[in-house]
Amino acid sequence: MSAVRSLVRELVVVRSTVAWHGHVGRDPFARLQLTEGRRDPYPLYEEVRRRGPLVPTPLAGHQTASHRVCREVLRDRRFGVQSEEALNRGDGELSLLELDPPDHTRLRRLVAPSFTPRALAGTRERVGAVVDGLLDAVPAGEPFDLVGALASPLPIRVITDLLGVPDDDSAAFARDGATIGSALAGVQSLGHVVRLLEANRRLGALLEEVFEQHRREPRDDLVSRLLAVEGDQVRPGELAPLCRLLLVAGFETTVNLIGNTVLALLAHPDQWREVVEDPSLAAAAVEETLRWDPPVQRTFRSPHEDLELAGVPLARGSMVMLLLAGANRDPEVFAEPGRFDLHRYADRSAPAAEHLSFSAGLHYCLGAPLARLEAVVAVERLAERFPRLQRAGRVRRRRGGTVIRGPAALVVGQRSGALAA
Ligand code: HEM
Repeated sequence: MSAVRSLVRELVVVRSTVAWHGHVGRDPFARLQLTEGRRDPYPLYEEVRRRGPLVPTPLAGHQTASHRVCREVLRDRRFGVQSEEALNRGDGELSLLELDPPDHTRLRRLVAPSFTPRALAGTRERVGAVVDGLLDAVPAGEPFDLVGALASPLPIRVITDLLGVPDDDSAAFARDGATIGSALAGVQSLGHVVRLLEANRRLGALLEEVFEQHRREPRDDLVSRLLAVEGDQVRPGELAPLCRLLLVAGFETTVNLIGNTVLALLAHPDQWREVVEDPSLAAAAVEETLRWDPPVQRTFRSPHEDLELAGVPLARGSMVMLLLAGANRDPEVFAEPGRFDLHRYADRSAPAAEHLSFSAGLHYCLGAPLARLEAVVAVERLAERFPRLQRAGRVRRRRGGTVIRGPAALVVGQRSGALAA
């Protein structure tokens, strides 16, 4: 019941408060969550930055779009992720993203080795095979939705593989994972609340089945490795939220990284052509997309003690909204930050400054190497197989969301004629 109550509260109270502060108070953080911010959040981030490095918002304590301040907060151990709200929920469903040390350290240590670039070395081939299979299924010579055909199914196949979910179950996993992932973007309606709760329950049951199978027949996959230390390093009840997080965190995000990268390249056809001519530039294109139009637009932190940040006193337990996508366009750190230019990251000996799209510090995205790998392979293969790719329809942004950003559908076709425009 408490879950229903908090979702309904979010729906009704939070929405009307956001509308009031956005329309009447003109608060940029509130406007980010209204149609204005959904369409184009970037001018609002600039507005925040113009107002100062750390400015109040009536909705959530303070907000910042300064790269320096975001980075400082993410790396400062006096800040954590455990908000009063998450702790009060007390539903035992917390995992890495909502845990502070020492629980965070213990759990992260268990899963981190499976996600290092070294551990993933063998995954490149598998990712390539999945991408090829998906592109083989695209109708020849006809427009197709790149999100439905490639960006969306790829991450789910890869993560279910890594976790050790049997192929038979992966369609149900994909469906429920997508529903739960959609909550990241905010709850949309009461119907959405019901769908979320049902998906959550089904996913829980599905995971229990997977755990049972792996207990009977341990294999060389992440779930088996975690089960082997259950009761010792993993407490009862921690395993399901952890697996659920791995599934959801890697799903909604990577879909949008692929969608946003293709969208950015097709909006800059000269740079798409460069990738077609030299597919090794796909990595730089993905990196520049992460900076320029990241899938995860913001996060938050809360100070564990009274302290001062950028000259502003902050009370223990207050909130600081870190506008990561705004920090990525901070002119103090990036020259001409509004310009999409893959060459910022093409020269590996002198790359541009670090963007914050995978966060920083203790909660730095565990799946960053995997997300990069999937997006790079997807863009490389697209460039090789569909060199004349172009947009063939209007872009629909993802439903309602403002934390997660990316196209809900991206219809593409192939230009006829010679490659050079
Ligand atoms: C483009 C794709 C992705 C983006 C943009 C992204 C972004 C992020 C961000 C911003 C955070 C930190 C949030 C914070 O500091 O509050 C995070 C954490 C995390 N991500 Fe990702 N992520 C992506 C893909 C993945 C994938 C593929 C996986 C794994 C399968 C994954 C697993 C995680 C986990 C487990 C955490 C929590 C780490 C911790 O709390 O220690 N992510 N991600």
